[in-house]
Amino acid sequence: MGLGMDDRFNTIAGWTLFGGIVALGLSSLSAHYFLADKHERPETMGYAIEGVEAEGGAGAAAVLPIANRLATGDVAKGEAIFAKCKACHTIDQGAANGIGPNLWATVGEGIAQGKAGFAFSDSLKAKGGKWDFAALDEWLTNPKKFADGTKMSFAGIANPQERADVILYLNSKGANLPLPAPEAVPAAGAAPAAGAAVAVVGDAAAGEKVFAKCKACHTIDKGAANGIGPNLFGIAGEKVAGDRGGFAFSDALKGKGGAWDDATLDTWLTGPAKFAPGTKMTFAGLPDAKQRADVIAYLKSKK
Ligand code: HEC
Ligand code: HEC
Repeated sequence: MGLGMDDRFNTIAGWTLFGGIVALGLSSLSAHYFLADKHERPETMGYAIEGVEAEGGAGAAAVLPIANRLATGDVAKGEAIFAKCKACHTIDQGAANGIGPNLWATVGEGIAQGKAGFAFSDSLKAKGGKWDFAALDEWLTNPKKFADGTKMSFAGIANPQERADVILYLNSKGANLPLPAPEAVPAAGAAPAAGAAVAVVGDAAAGEKVFAKCKACHTIDKGAANGIGPNLFGIAGEKVAGDRGGFAFSDALKGKGGAWDDATLDTWLTGPAKFAPGTKMTFAGLPDAKQRADVIAYLKSKK
């Protein structure tokens, strides 16, 4: 027993309509959420608002380069996020096009090319170029902004890390291009004066205030749990990327060797990605030598 041709057509038409309604409904819903409470961004669906890209926090931290977000990204999370795309896209090799084209091996491919006869919009066809990581990041931020007149009626993913996660997932399906090396992110303001600053005498009390910047990712009290970064109790004098309650360090940091003395801490905190290219610590660094000395004094006081 199977569905008759008409039934099947109706089912497909029904889902198509449903997909459109879901897409429209969600974008107005999330716009509504933003008005209601700017602190509660819906986790599942982004709505790209001009100029509002960075997550939370005063002074809107700059969005990290895509290379850095890919380096800290998570394919499994990307697969979960891809649920949003499934209303319109298949991704397995040889699967049929839907409302959108099949996305197998799309990363690195020409924009709006191939895909077994999928009828792309003129707008996307006119873009030219390839789906490299940067182009995908821009596209998924706001498809309409990338290709005004695109047929992809999807609001976009506002969360920069979610975009990186889903791009990692796309890359894992048939492309597997090598990831770009993370960039050293220059902090706003003064040029970093690495090394030379070690002589500056730090003040642990001032350093505790500086440490507020680290708390998003690090605990420091004895026995406190690891967060996005490892617990930092007693870090001074310890091995670089040693045993921190099972924290999974990046290969980049594990490969450094040595111990955390004043000099290595100072260089690390000046520019983590420069000290260990590929590090998971997505922190621009502290350009101010006095702040580094202060926070190092604070780290040393915690043991
Ligand atoms: C409501 C349906 C819909 C949703 C949801 C959707 N897309 Fe699309 N997508 C399309 C359509 C239609 C196109 C073709 C666009 C055009 O021709 O302008 C497309 C095109 C694309 C392309 C370009 C493919 C190529 O070969 O050039 C990529 C990449 C893509 N989508 C990724 C995604 C991802 C990732 C998601 C989820 C985060 C997503 N899409 C969600 C409908 C959708
Ligand atoms: C956005 C999250 C984040 C912020 C903010 C952050 N860190 Fe980290 N930190 C990490 C991660 C993740 C690691 C592990 C890096 C790796 O494995 O490459 C790490 C590692 C470290 C290490 C090495 C620990 C070890 O056992 O080798 C030190 C020291 C450190 N951070 C200090 C700081 C200080 C001090 C600040 C604030 C000035 C700070 N971090 C801000 C995420 C962060």
